[in-house]
Amino acid sequence: MRTLRAMALAGFGLALACGSAPRAKHAGTPEDPWIVGMSQCNLGEPWRVQMDADVRAAAATHPNLRMIFKDAQNNSLTQRAQVEELVEQGVDLIIISPKEAAPLTNPVAEAYRQGTPVIVLDRAVQGDQYTTFIGADNVRIGREAGKWIRDSLHGTGKIVELKGLMTSTPGQDRNHGFLEGLDLADNPGLAIVFTGEMQWLEPNARREMESALATHPRIDAVYAHNDPGAHGAWLAARAAGREREMLFVGIDALPQEGRQYVAQGILDATFLYPTGGAEAIETALAILQGQSVPKHIVLGTRLFTRENVAGGGQPIE
Ligand code: FRU
Repeated sequence: MRTLRAMALAGFGLALACGSAPRAKHAGTPEDPWIVGMSQCNLGEPWRVQMDADVRAAAATHPNLRMIFKDAQNNSLTQRAQVEELVEQGVDLIIISPKEAAPLTNPVAEAYRQGTPVIVLDRAVQGDQYTTFIGADNVRIGREAGKWIRDSLHGTGKIVELKGLMTSTPGQDRNHGFLEGLDLADNPGLAIVFTGEMQWLEPNARREMESALATHPRIDAVYAHNDPGAHGAWLAARAAGREREMLFVGIDALPQEGRQYVAQGILDATFLYPTGGAEAIETALAILQGQSVPKHIVLGTRLFTRENVAGGGQPIE
């Protein structure tokens, strides 16, 4: 794993965190450990279970750190209340992976202004009232997915896009990037014939895909904003006997999920979306030790296809 210094040297972090100086309430010793509260937007999706596991594993190597985990069960109001509770409890730092940008912006800003450092992980909030944001570049991942589909279809084909939750930043960014990568203006043979919002969930993706299949006698590729979405689409296509007609591309590439689907020949490609759990703990420690950290820490991605999945995928430079 890269150290913060290496990330900054590699040009990942441009701005330094500024704003409220952290006020640690605990000493940060094994006897009086720093307390970090983590608000996870839901634990119903495997990727988020993995994120909490990554945070837990990284924190377990630091006896001067204690974690409190909260699960907002996919409800922004619950998550808002959890951030407020963590501040009241007197935690030294908050890590939040927010469900939606707008409703979580104020609670995060409040905590930050009152002096609790906040690390925003994976999905962003609005503005800059937090200590640091850690996550992969979703516009870039979307763009790479668009280019991959454009090239694989040799510039001709009908495409279905199954979007994540569009009130969350990864949904918005994965859509914008995809359109850039497809470059419909220069590739008039390509068309997005159907879009649906599956809100990151496999059963919703399956339903949306059933509608797409019912209205389009020919589909050449499905781009889903995450692997559960791509798998839901594949299930619908298989039930209709049409899964061989089209390519399926997703995002996340968990070893036990997306990469497995690629290895099994269900998905044609998936892009790694790292959880950032280990980086969040490394960054939390740096903040609690009074170091400056980059305002924006960008994590990399990898492409997994049938050809390269056994070898660990291919980095996107
Ligand atoms: C899990 C998830 C992932 C996706 C990420 C985007 O909740 O839907 O599948 O990549 O959130 O924030």
